[in-house]
Amino acid sequence: MLHKNLKPFPNGFFWGASTSAYQVEGASLEDGKGPSCQDVKMVPEGTSDLTVCADHYHHYQEDIALMAEMGFHSYRFSISWSRILPEGTGRINPQGIEFYSNLIDECRKYGIEPIVTMFHFDMPAALDERGSWSNRESVEWFLEFARILFENFGDRVKYWLTINEQNMLTLVGPAIGSLFIPEGCTNQMKEIYQQNHHQLVAQAKAMELCHKMLPEAKIGPAPNISLVYAATCKPEDVLAAQNFNAIRNWLYLDMAVYGVYNHLVWSYLEAHDACPVFSEGDEDVLKNAHPDFIGFNYYSTATAEADNGGEETETTVDQQSAGGEAGVYKGYHNPNLMKTEFGWEIDPIGFRATMRELYSRYRLPLLVTENGLGAYDKLEDGKIHDPYRIQYLREHIAQIQQAITDGVDMLGYNPWSAIDLISTHEGMKKRYGLIYVDRDEFDLKTLKRYRKDSFYWYKKVIATNGEDLAD
Ligand code: BG6
Repeated sequence: MLHKNLKPFPNGFFWGASTSAYQVEGASLEDGKGPSCQDVKMVPEGTSDLTVCADHYHHYQEDIALMAEMGFHSYRFSISWSRILPEGTGRINPQGIEFYSNLIDECRKYGIEPIVTMFHFDMPAALDERGSWSNRESVEWFLEFARILFENFGDRVKYWLTINEQNMLTLVGPAIGSLFIPEGCTNQMKEIYQQNHHQLVAQAKAMELCHKMLPEAKIGPAPNISLVYAATCKPEDVLAAQNFNAIRNWLYLDMAVYGVYNHLVWSYLEAHDACPVFSEGDEDVLKNAHPDFIGFNYYSTATAEADNGGEETETTVDQQSAGGEAGVYKGYHNPNLMKTEFGWEIDPIGFRATMRELYSRYRLPLLVTENGLGAYDKLEDGKIHDPYRIQYLREHIAQIQQAITDGVDMLGYNPWSAIDLISTHEGMKKRYGLIYVDRDEFDLKTLKRYRKDSFYWYKKVIATNGEDLAD
């Protein structure tokens, strides 16, 4: 049902937007920063590298001032592990601490709440050389990093996110430039789910540490959640949708919230001889950790149909494509949905369905940490007309209000992205920002910032606490 008498957005709702360090900062090897896996990866052909990005590292004051002009209540950004610890462990880079300390102070100066992601796809290259998440020690590496963050920034950061889109790291590592498979590995799936297990344990320990060191702070996970629809009401399709929901979504949140493996996923792993090995104490660690809220990224829903194991399934290419697994599920293109210029389905109503489902399953406040439209924006006479982005954001925000009226506890909305930055695998041409950055794929141009039409529109949305969504 579509509510007519809508509940207002709560007071203190975090209106803001998001970025991630390796996609926005640039200065990739400056001021003592060590390389991350993103700096040493093969950049997809036709796209730029990550040395300059939006040059947020050098423009952060100007960028935060623009966010303040929009009226942001929050800014969700990530901290680059290898800027803090160039070798991933051990030696701390004081200039890295100083940069983030200044960035946090700059936010606070304008009353913008910093929401910090601890890890967003950028494993220090030095740790990749030591086996990355494959190495059991990765749990302790992450904890060391977490402790440094809590010690240095915990006095000013109250909202923490552990690992961005761990589910995408596991399911589409190559698309986001982060896949580590050790030489001689004979069961890739087992290897990947073992790494996934180490991340789950690392996350649980980091949540516990956060609560111990910073009793006032709040911490949560940040997976990419797309509710999976069944392609038809055929019972087999419903089972397929349940399978993909479990593999794509619930594994990560059942573990973060309840500390247990989702039973459907466990049986799927058993069938592939891919169950992770638990070290002593893991079971308790996983059970004892409790998030304070659920952060989640939403771009679209997914749809699945039954797979009889016969024909070959489409491969999963990126975050929003659902390939398939013989006999488990098969991705299905939803004919009811439009697509972005980059082929991602657009489903605002599915956003509401996702929020309802998340809240029913976990009963924790929800924080939208990403949502947005990638498009080819054009700068003309100093202006960027992006009605398509306004429409996308408007329709999604309207669904948040429907969800709030449904009784879902919503903490905030931080769409992707505050400012143009480099996409995970489609370069600078796929823009998401409310603020335009004057550069092309390879030509750095002026790097000057421009306010898009969506900038002015979002400013009004924030000023009216979501009441005025009109153009
Ligand atoms: C999410 C990531 O998957 O989607 C971001 O957390 C990413 O890092 C965003 O940029 C949009 O995806 P893409 O592939 O279009 O950059």
